[in-house]
Amino acid sequence: MIRQQELLDTKTVFEQITARKKELTGKVLILAHHYQQEDVYQFADLTGDSLKLARQAVEAGDYPYIIFCGVHFMAESADILATDKQAVILPDLEAGCPMADMASTKEVEEAWQEISQVCDVQSVIPVTYVNSSARIKDFVGKRGGSVCTSSNAERVLAWALSKGEKIFFFPDEHLGRNSSKALGISGDEIVLWQRGQKLGGNSPQQLQKAKTILWNGYCHVHQEFTEEQVRTWREKVPGIKIIVHPESPYEVVKAADMYGSTEGIIAAVQESAPGSTWAIGTEVNLVNRLKEQHKDKTIHLLADTSCTCSTMNRIKPANLLWVLDNLTEGNVVNQISVDKKTAEGAKLALDRMLEI
Ligand code: 13P
Ligand code: SF4
Repeated sequence: MIRQQELLDTKTVFEQITARKKELTGKVLILAHHYQQEDVYQFADLTGDSLKLARQAVEAGDYPYIIFCGVHFMAESADILATDKQAVILPDLEAGCPMADMASTKEVEEAWQEISQVCDVQSVIPVTYVNSSARIKDFVGKRGGSVCTSSNAERVLAWALSKGEKIFFFPDEHLGRNSSKALGISGDEIVLWQRGQKLGGNSPQQLQKAKTILWNGYCHVHQEFTEEQVRTWREKVPGIKIIVHPESPYEVVKAADMYGSTEGIIAAVQESAPGSTWAIGTEVNLVNRLKEQHKDKTIHLLADTSCTCSTMNRIKPANLLWVLDNLTEGNVVNQISVDKKTAEGAKLALDRMLEI
């Protein structure tokens, strides 16, 4: 069904969003992730990486409506952390994260059962990347584990190892490996749980020896980056600085000068000297924004492929306007509401992360 807002020209959509925002002052808070397209990002009251946005959701207590321009798991986390009086709205319900969908509760529960046959699960601490469903967070929270984001994964893993012998990390294999390696865990103490295989394709001994068991999920955008691209940029531009997101494969992170969450990438570019040259391994909307904002620096996307997160890009100005139009008429549309039972454990896991 085509909505009337989608038939308007861009200028009118922008004008109407501005007008609606004014009418709803004090009632609506618009949060946007750094991967949002510029046409949407410009209307955000607050922007951030996953951790910062989760904190902002906690602090947004006075706003009855939080419009989350990001993907589904982010809106779910905001709903869990927000008060009961607040409604969290995702302008397009199809804006999911394919990586989060790579770990279903059923699969994770089955894997946990299998692990418990060969290891003492009391000493296994589950850690889920925030890019996961509320049900997965609930599973983790109820088993003494924590959520982590790309900006605190090392800290959370160090905490997990202080609580137990082993970490079961999902859904992103790469973030799990990069953070484990940064903590000095050696390659033979890190095993991969391959979905669909008995014991995840490992022997009981391998699982018993492991410090980290990694789920084999990945982000298709960050999986695009290669060590070869890093080498090529170094040959082409001596002195170039290379920064990548930790969802990139380990070889890429190792070859880069630094890695960081989206907020970390922004800070690194901001703090660099005028005239510096960067190749950045992350989603293209953020890289293009940095190019625009730092005309005194030369900024390239690390890969020559598109590096687009198509689900993040599902949020369009017309969806945002549709949500705002409805709110001005008193209708809450596209509300993301996590049921109370699931929210209980998920909140435990999120709160643990915020404390760590
Ligand atoms: P950040 O928390 O670094 O913003 O990352 C979120 C994400 O989905 C990266 O792909
Ligand atoms: Fe998910 Fe990757 Fe998109 Fe981030 S960039 S939301 S991890 S698919």
